[in-house]
Amino acid sequence: MKQFKLLGVAMLVSGMLSAGMAQAADVDAVIQQRKGVMGIIGANMGFMGCTLKGACDAGPKVTLKQAQSLAFAASISLATFAENVKGASVKTTASPKIWDDWASYKKGMQIMEERALDLVDAVKSGDKGSMGAAMKGLGETCKGCHDNYREK
Ligand code: HEC
Repeated sequence: MKQFKLLGVAMLVSGMLSAGMAQAADVDAVIQQRKGVMGIIGANMGFMGCTLKGACDAGPKVTLKQAQSLAFAASISLATFAENVKGASVKTTASPKIWDDWASYKKGMQIMEERALDLVDAVKSGDKGSMGAAMKGLGETCKGCHDNYREK
């Protein structure tokens, strides 16, 4: 009988522990997802820059896919910030100001998305001048938001 009781307590405790762990893991997953989506944007931006300089050339089809991938990631980025999660063990540089100024943060994301779509159009045109101008416009949105909404 005593053994059963102990087993019951052990099961209860391990149940509580795993519930606690699941919660911590979810908070970490939210941060990791945000960083993952930003990482896709960053990787594609780097590739586009390299292509413009002429240091990389994967051909027009792949270059277009890179621009589309960037635009796609830009379109889902805001959703990854919807929840202001706290207590994550994964390091984050996201400033709490994001959730105080949500409307302005959202606007920043929308502008990035629009400019990423301009880049897609510029890549489709095949004109390097338009691509350069679109990259410049898009790049300004990264810096503008990072300066305001990222902490060191
Ligand atoms: C409206 C806001 C906003 C815009 C626009 C934005 N970012 Fe970010 N970005 C963030 C925030 C906030 C973080 C910090 C995320 C974290 O640490 O949890 C971040 C982080 C990153 C990271 C680091 C990811 C990591 O693994 O830690 C990269 C790379 C990045 N952004 C690239 C870009 C590029 C390139 C652009 C422009 C094409 C861009 N971002 C536009 C808000 C923005």
